[in-house]
Amino acid sequence: MKRSIQLITIFFILTFVFACQAEIKEAEKQEQQGKVKTKRPLNPNGDSELALMMRSMYDEADRIKKQIAAGEAVELKLDHGKILTAHATEPEKAASAEYKGFAKVYLNHLQKLENAKGDEAQKHFNTLVENCLSCHQALCPGPVVRIKKLQRPIQQKSI
Ligand code: HEC
Repeated sequence: MKRSIQLITIFFILTFVFACQAEIKEAEKQEQQGKVKTKRPLNPNGDSELALMMRSMYDEADRIKKQIAAGEAVELKLDHGKILTAHATEPEKAASAEYKGFAKVYLNHLQKLENAKGDEAQKHFNTLVENCLSCHQALCPGPVVRIKKLQRPIQQKSI
């Protein structure tokens, strides 16, 4: 008699433990599936065309930095001129004379970088990142810390 009570108790404890684990698993699964819900976009209204363009520009700059370090010719893949027309989160900001001024300086310098030969490329790349930063410091300081990462030397991977 005592033994069967013990067995029943163990049975209940085990069921409880398994049920809890199943619940945790289910919660994890839901979180994975619902990533979009838990990870809100940076901007409550979704990402603007300009914001997406800027992210691609960051990736392009990061790639160019590696090209230069490897002694390869600089190759542009994006149409950077879009920064003059892409829809921004705050359209009045991108329509301002100040924004357009910074954008033109940036685009002019980009041409210099594209045509740079040999050692000049690194110098022009550094100035280009300064151009990103001047516009950002004046109009959109949020991403400054991130953009500054482009100024850091590439970390050598140890094999
Ligand atoms: C002429 C001004 C200007 C220049 C030049 C500029 N930016 Fe931006 N950047 C902006 C503005 C304005 C936004 C905000 C865009 C929006 O939310 O619509 C932005 C947004 C960003 C973002 C955040 C995007 C996001 O996820 O929301 C990053 C990263 C960024 N820029 C990187 C760069 C890099 C790298 C460069 C240079 C290669 C650069 N920017 C050059 C004005 C500029």
